[in-house]
Amino acid sequence: MMEAARRAVERKGHDAALRALNLGCGERFHPQWVNLDLFPASAAVQKWDLKNPLQFASDSFDVVYHSHVLEHFPKKLARQVLAECLRVLKPGGILRVVVPDLEEVARLYLQAMEKAASGVPGWRENYDWVVMEMLDQAVRESPGGAWFEYLRQNPIPNWDFVARRVGAEAERARAAAGRAGEASPQSRAARMRAKWAYIVQNPGAVVRNKLARIVLSRADYDALQVGRFRRQGEIHQWMYDGYSLGRLLQEVGFVNPLRFRETQSQIADWTQYGLDNEPDGSAYRPGSLCMEARKP
Ligand SMILES: C[S@@+](CC[C@H](N)C(=O)[O-])C[C@H]1O[C@@H](n2cnc3c(N)ncnc32)[C@H](O)[C@@H]1O
Repeated sequence: MMEAARRAVERKGHDAALRALNLGCGERFHPQWVNLDLFPASAAVQKWDLKNPLQFASDSFDVVYHSHVLEHFPKKLARQVLAECLRVLKPGGILRVVVPDLEEVARLYLQAMEKAASGVPGWRENYDWVVMEMLDQAVRESPGGAWFEYLRQNPIPNWDFVARRVGAEAERARAAAGRAGEASPQSRAARMRAKWAYIVQNPGAVVRNKLARIVLSRADYDALQVGRFRRQGEIHQWMYDGYSLGRLLQEVGFVNPLRFRETQSQIADWTQYGLDNEPDGSAYRPGSLCMEARKP
C-alpha cells in the first residue's frame, strides 16, 4: 500500500485532481482519496457510519469505490448506500463496487460437492472450505467465526486451495488466527492494556454493560452480546452476482454496469492506487465481482 501510494504521489499526472471516495475502506486505502470507515484504521480515515447519508455535497466526486462492503448491509440499506453514491458522484462519474462473487462460489460449491462425494483426493477439505466461505460470515456469532478456527489449524490441510481463494489476506488471517490462539504473557499484557484503554474511553458503555449483566438472565445477556456483534459490520447480510448487482445499480439510477477484472477499470491508471491489486499485480481479493457503472 505504501509503495503504491509513493508511486502515485510521484506520478503527479492527470489524476492529481481526481476526487475519489473509498467507503468502508478498512486498512485498504489511498492517502489522496477521501476514506471512510465505521472503525478508522488510521488518522487518514474518517469515522462514518454508512447507515447515515454521506456528509458530502451532491455531484462532488469523480469516483466512488467500495470493496467488500455492500454485502454487509441488508438489501434495503444497500440500495440506500448506492443511492448516496449516485448522489455524491459528478455526472459521468464512476462507481466501482467490489463484492464476493455469489455466482463463482456457487459454481465452485457444486464442483466441490461432486468431487468430494466421488472421493477425489483433497476435495473433502476443499468442500468444507467452500461451504464455509459461502455461509460462515452470514451466520457467525463471534469475530472471525469458523473461518478463524479453520485457519488456526496447523498445518492447514488444503492451504494452496485456501490461499488461491483468499489471496494475500489468507496469510495475514492465518498469522492473526495463530496469534489469537497464543496465551503468551505478552499477548495477555496486550489484551489487558486494550481492555483498560476501552474502559477509559467508553465509561458509559462499560457501566451500561455492567447493569445489563446484573439485570438480564445469562441467556438474555448472551443474546444481547450476539446481537451487538451481528450489528457491528462483520456479518454478510446479502450476496450478489453480476446479474443482480448490475440490475440493482440500474434500479438505483446508474447506467452501463460492466464487469472488470481486479486490475482493469475505467478509472485512469487504476492499478496505481493498489486497491484491488497487490504490488505484484495479483488480485487482492480473488473470487470477487468487480463492477463499474456511471452516473448519467
Ligand atoms: C470486509 S471489510 C473490507 C475493507 C476494505 N474495503 C477491503 O477491501 O479490505 C468491511 C469494512 O466495512 C466497514 N463497515 C461495515 N459496516 C460499516 C458501516 N455501517 N459504516 C462504515 N463502514 C462499515 C468495516 O468496518 C470494514 O472495514
